[in-house]
Amino acid sequence: MHSFIELSKIFDEKFNTRHFPEHTPTLYDPAQYILQLGGKRVRPVCVLMGNELFDEIHEDAYFAAAGIELFHNFSLIHDDIMDKAPVRRGMPTLHAKYGESTALLAGDVMFVRAYEYLNRMKAGHLQKVLHLFNNTAKAVCEGQQLDMDFEKRDTVSMDEYLHMITLKTSVLLAASLQIGAILGGTGERNQQHIYEFGKNLGIAFQVQDDYLDAFGDPAKFGKQIGGDIIANKKTFLMIHALEAADESTKLSLLQSMTDNPADKVDKVLAIFKKCNIDGWAKELKEKYLQTALQHLQDIAVTEKRKACLAELASFFIERDS
Ligand code: IPE
Ligand code: IPE
Ligand code: MG
Ligand code: MG
Ligand code: MG
Repeated sequence: MHSFIELSKIFDEKFNTRHFPEHTPTLYDPAQYILQLGGKRVRPVCVLMGNELFDEIHEDAYFAAAGIELFHNFSLIHDDIMDKAPVRRGMPTLHAKYGESTALLAGDVMFVRAYEYLNRMKAGHLQKVLHLFNNTAKAVCEGQQLDMDFEKRDTVSMDEYLHMITLKTSVLLAASLQIGAILGGTGERNQQHIYEFGKNLGIAFQVQDDYLDAFGDPAKFGKQIGGDIIANKKTFLMIHALEAADESTKLSLLQSMTDNPADKVDKVLAIFKKCNIDGWAKELKEKYLQTALQHLQDIAVTEKRKACLAELASFFIERDS
């Protein structure tokens, strides 16, 4: 059994190579650019951990992990266009550096590359893995559309927010773990528990992402702080503040959505702070962590084998990058 750090090293040793041809460098160099900036590699590690929970790491797990990391990076390229984000992983976003047309195409070709990796898996598990992957990829698009739709609305309920982040973020983490479990040869029941473990943990992961977008250390987080406020994202911070604030603060928040970006970040951050956002974030993450851990407990393997997944759970929630 390997730890998170060990698995990310094992993955990176194979993955840190050029994934694209040398020709047409105006397309493929930008695609390679974002991959070289690294990232935490949590999804491929989830594939490997899901596999190793039940059996030794199968060689197909690497192909699945690589396919999923490529899909994730594709989604980030397009997400950064949609969110008008200037910085990712501490560096200019792909579209900021190379233009939107190149970013769209680099994303498209990376998605195709993802399928090429998945397709290298042996026939045995391929159909089931592809079915899960395809449903997940569609869910991510649905979540991303809801995220954009919510920018234009004044208010969004907590349930709508949770549904949206489940789709855009948590199902991919859940599917990564389940795909690992499929390759580890376990049965349907264990697969469902590990999926639910990942889904609940993934909600906490996005809650932490939204928290860090407002209050993270830019040097560690690697993204523009306040980007969600500028884009009028309906994160749990905004939803909670709108619910908790008095009438005049609420009006001021709603007003801020039409403010010029330069003015609104500090103003909205000050309101968030006044609403006990830290306590609220902790409570929310704790709730989903507990549900996740319940599903982890229900997986039928020895407790000892589960230690690294419990470690993964704390990392998801306490991370600062
Ligand atoms: C960013 O994902 C997008 C979200 C779903 C929050 P990560 O935080 O995993 O990004 P990298 O891959 O580590 O850069
Ligand atoms: C993005 O959520 C989720 C996907 C890329 C599908 P965010 O928009 O919050 O991710 P970051 O903060 O830009 O990484
Ligand atoms: Mg974004
Ligand atoms: Mg986004
Ligand atoms: Mg974010």
